[in-house]
Amino acid sequence: MTQPKVCAFGDDPMVVRNTFAQFPSGVAVLAVDIGGEKHALVASSFMVGVSLEPCLVAVAVQKSSETWGLIKDAGSLGVSIFGRGQGDLLRKLASKDRAARFEQVAIEVGDEGAVFIEDAALWLECSIHEISDAGDHWMALLEVKQLGVGESEPLVWHGAKFRELVDA
Ligand SMILES: Cc1cc2nc3c(=O)[nH]c(=O)nc-3n(C[C@H](O)[C@H](O)[C@H](O)COP(=O)(O)O)c2cc1C
Repeated sequence: MTQPKVCAFGDDPMVVRNTFAQFPSGVAVLAVDIGGEKHALVASSFMVGVSLEPCLVAVAVQKSSETWGLIKDAGSLGVSIFGRGQGDLLRKLASKDRAARFEQVAIEVGDEGAVFIEDAALWLECSIHEISDAGDHWMALLEVKQLGVGESEPLVWHGAKFRELVDA
């Protein structure tokens, strides 16, 4: 007898998490400087190509995120997609100690306060387009104002591990 492809997943969130973890993604950090204080929100839910005109990208943010409360009204958000070899930097920027996140991190700050991480795979400068309710997350659509590509290949997040791209 063949195994069924799908089954009910009950109310165990780990089953859902472990299944979703099999979906590979890049990882972004949304970062902004507000009055000299820098804030970072690391997100693997980030996606590009939601719309080309206007140019929209999206990110799902946990409603419990303290950082989101601080950055959601910023006029300009920096988005950096982590590059190959930036796994330790990613963990630092996602650490619980919010004050220590930017210690010894090489960044560039735009005129409007968008913060960009050096040596990332790509960068976007965005403004908030729309925020909607998505269960235990907020779904934020961001409008891309400017963009650039770095020299590094992107880091891949898969199975709760950092991976690298290889040609198939
Ligand atoms: C690899 C990775 C991916 C993450 N993806 C998301 C995400 O898509 N959305 C989100 O809200 N938080 C995500 N987080 C958690 C946040 O980066 C952050 O730790 C959390 O929001 C708590 O910090 P805060 O209260 O300062 O926001 C991710 C963390 C890691 C390490």
